[in-house]
Amino acid sequence: MSTSAERGRRFDDLRRREFTRLDEAGIAYLDYTGSGVYPESLVRAHSDRLCRSVLGNPHSENGPSADATEIMDRARTEVLDFFDADRETWTVCFTANASAAAKLVGEAFPFEDGSRFVLLTDNHNSVNGVREFAIGRGASVDYTPLDEELRAASPRFSRREAPSLFAFPAQSNFSGVQHPLTLVDEAREAGYSVLLDAAAYVPTNRLSLREVKPDFVCVSFYKMFGFPTGVGALIAKRDALATLDRPWFAGGTVEWATVETERRRLLTTAEAFEDGTPNFLDIAAIPGGLDLLRGVGMDEIHEHVSDLTVRLLESFAAAETALGRPLVRVYGPRGSDRRGATVAFNLLDEVGRTLPYEEVERAASEIGIAIRGGCFCNPGASESAFGVDAGRALRCLESVPRGEFHPRKLGECLDGAPVGALRASFGIGSVHSDVDRLVDFIAGTSSTAGAPERAAAGGEPRGDLHVRPSVGVQ
Ligand SMILES: Cc1ncc(COP(=O)(O)O)c(C=O)c1O
Repeated sequence: MSTSAERGRRFDDLRRREFTRLDEAGIAYLDYTGSGVYPESLVRAHSDRLCRSVLGNPHSENGPSADATEIMDRARTEVLDFFDADRETWTVCFTANASAAAKLVGEAFPFEDGSRFVLLTDNHNSVNGVREFAIGRGASVDYTPLDEELRAASPRFSRREAPSLFAFPAQSNFSGVQHPLTLVDEAREAGYSVLLDAAAYVPTNRLSLREVKPDFVCVSFYKMFGFPTGVGALIAKRDALATLDRPWFAGGTVEWATVETERRRLLTTAEAFEDGTPNFLDIAAIPGGLDLLRGVGMDEIHEHVSDLTVRLLESFAAAETALGRPLVRVYGPRGSDRRGATVAFNLLDEVGRTLPYEEVERAASEIGIAIRGGCFCNPGASESAFGVDAGRALRCLESVPRGEFHPRKLGECLDGAPVGALRASFGIGSVHSDVDRLVDFIAGTSSTAGAPERAAAGGEPRGDLHVRPSVGVQ
């Protein structure tokens, strides 16, 4: 294993080779949990391939269609190999994204009266949404709470005769917490099927499906290597897929369907879950993206983004020591243990009040620092992080007419309590200087917050920030 300094140099080289446009545009891109950034060689190779090929709809039988089918087959195999999944046991259904993969499971899982849907409070809405199918078919829904570091308590997998499902993220898209993958076996031993949301985990962590054996895994490829958008996958055990009962059929999913008798028979392969024409042109880029990650090395990527996370957290601590007061409130672990490269935080002013995240996000953006603000589609982790009283928050939410919701209104209704945070996340294109730019900005912002006149007189390097304490305005 290389040293941190060696890795830093390697990733600086990679940045020069594949991501020069970030530096040309002066952008410190720190939203890899939102989307990866595509390496330039990947899109060049893809464009070359398209210019050389004639590809047709894989549902036809002609030559160009056979070529497209071959591309799809190869992409399926490469995805299985990348995740160390035995080809006999596992298969890949291409979807539009991770959300669509979770929905495929939710809408077809055989929930019934007596079923349970167990999930961690720390889920993306695309997994929370599965509860609507569960409730609709008589299942009970059971959320496992989070502790102060936003780690999950042990879920209770009470035995059930009726088909039951457990869903959790391998890595939180809110706090970066990595939930124990041993939960997979625990749930399965209690008779539950398991949906592992690996969308935020797999861009910077190795996942072996020989070692971790859920029933279903959902991923989005643009999070792993930035391109293409619009392609994700449900990676599923073949026998688990066979237990799903699809609520409809579409072109490409059936062996046959008749109109007169209104009967149909679904295919028995992954294609039974690929509604209509798959995105065969973009799917052609997937093997190249996986190769690129393999070439850099998943363990190297993992170590590098861990270095950057530690650098950020230690810089926060050093800046706080220098200032002699708290600078940020980090939501989630402040150490490097069992966490990924996503850090959620809010800035504090001189007297410890939370600065409005939207204004900080905007000021960062004005000077080319791309971080994310809000709740990141993860209401459970947000509610735990901000300690919001659920009943009161619901009253506030319901008091805002439909179509008029804005986080600011929620914050006002909650007397200025924080209702969103900032999120910095790292990926293959990240380098040390990105972290340093963020830390400089934060230190400058916090020390001038509430004093725009002081900043206007010419002070710290930062955006034209006019943030005020959050009380009543967040
Ligand atoms: C953990 C997690 N799950 C699911 C999703 C949904 O991914 P997509 O929007 O690509 O469907 C995201 C997106 O950020 C995520 O971070």
